Amino acid sequence: MPKVKISALGCYVPERVLTNFDLEKMVETSNQWILERTGISERHIADSATATSDLAVAAARQALDSRGIAPTDLDVILVCTVTPDMFFPSTACLVQNQLGAKRAWGFDLIAACSGFLFGLTTGAHLVAAGTHKKVLVIGSDTMSRIIDYKDRNTCILFGDGAGAMLLEPLAADDDPQLGFIDFLGEIDGSGGDYLKMPAGGSRLPASSETVAQRLHYVHQDGQQVFKYAVRKMYEVCKGLLDRNGVTVKDVDVLIPHQANRRIITATAERLGLACDKVVINIERYGNTTGGTIPLATRDAIKSGRLKKGDLVLFAAVGAGYTVGASLWRWAF
Ligand code: UT7
Repeated sequence: MPKVKISALGCYVPERVLTNFDLEKMVETSNQWILERTGISERHIADSATATSDLAVAAARQALDSRGIAPTDLDVILVCTVTPDMFFPSTACLVQNQLGAKRAWGFDLIAACSGFLFGLTTGAHLVAAGTHKKVLVIGSDTMSRIIDYKDRNTCILFGDGAGAMLLEPLAADDDPQLGFIDFLGEIDGSGGDYLKMPAGGSRLPASSETVAQRLHYVHQDGQQVFKYAVRKMYEVCKGLLDRNGVTVKDVDVLIPHQANRRIITATAERLGLACDKVVINIERYGNTTGGTIPLATRDAIKSGRLKKGDLVLFAAVGAGYTVGASLWRWAF
């Protein structure tokens, strides 16, 4: 079975920036509260003509260009999102068409903030099976479309953005140590009520009542999700490291989902991981759901903190609940 590597990365965030000071004018909040409780300073927001597939295509193009391959080289496109352009057709189909990726098949994957990691492991297994050579995994979300900008509990947290990673088999001249090592995942539907968009599906179809009751927006019990995230981020990381006989000292970089700076630092502290090994860029993007891990990976590469050969641990907890962590030896 071929080993799998991440061979390229692309990211995109829309231009418009919504700062904490802007939010001060919209809801009863303060820059200081948001910074202290979340670590977020600003987030990017898509204009009304831009949807999730547009962010996804921009990120995808950057990944393909950086690898020097054409859209027609792609075998599979996976789009991890909770804000698809519409229920169907899938955003993967829209992206495939916009890119002109004529040979690719693909689908959307819903796992909220863990979506990108669930997609990455799904894609890695398609490549490892030997049946697919180029799988593009895209995390893309336009969270601003499902955020209630009258609800200060949620509107301060989220931003829009996308990232894409290309998966390929290791080449014959690649170091065999590089690439995918392992993934550990978990779902716990008993936590479903704590973070959800209640209406718009088959349980509560859109109606004037659901709109009047603001049920097409994100509803969250922040404290419940916070406590679960702090516990699970640690447990999934520790479980994955232990299963692979890897110590925390061996990890070069932790790239966590960016939901709250305090969740990330608590995870690092419990793991005993030095701050300089943890990538945090939540201050500039907020929580972009599917986009956080590729965006943080890009920043880690840019700042020289992630280099070829490094052992990188990705981890996320999200609505569902969904939990995932994966371990890679970085390949470019
Ligand atoms: O990636 C998906 C998963 N999502 C997450 O991981 C989010 C997890 N949760 C969190 O990040 C945090 O729970 C929040 C940032 C959402 C909230 O922080 P917190 O420290 O848990 O605050 P809290 O909900 O306990 O609220 C503390 C106080 C309350 O006032 P009282 O009752 O103490 O008077 C809130 O009403 O802060 C108030 N508050 C705010 N104040 C100013 C809540 N939101 C705001 C706000 N500005 N935006």
